[in-house]
Amino acid sequence: MKTLEDLKRLREQLKTKNTVRHEGGIQIIVGMGTCGIAAGARQVMTAILDEIAKQNLQTVKISQTGCIGMCEKEVLVDVVRPNEPRITYGRVTVDDIPKIISEHIVNGRIVAELAIGKFTE
Ligand code: FES
Repeated sequence: MKTLEDLKRLREQLKTKNTVRHEGGIQIIVGMGTCGIAAGARQVMTAILDEIAKQNLQTVKISQTGCIGMCEKEVLVDVVRPNEPRITYGRVTVDDIPKIISEHIVNGRIVAELAIGKFTE
């Protein structure tokens, strides 16, 4: 994925694959600022969409955010589960996605070796 057209297609994919949204549910947020994209955020986002579809997790909300000033830790992926701290994963690769989805999203277990931050809101 390298062009603006690819990004537009990804945005459409996000809309169609992620139609069931609900407030207060599980959220995955991917850092898609310049450095995130340079580090592979598009591929990570695609891997998340694929894994969510594969596991048929229709109620997980997936969104993107911009730069949060931690270039060296990109790709950054945040997982927010209701009534739990927001967990930030850093230096996430495509290969990490199945584990993050299966462990944290499905079973509620934080993947400690990839986590770089914990925020209570
Ligand atoms: S673009 Fe990398 S920290 Fe902002």
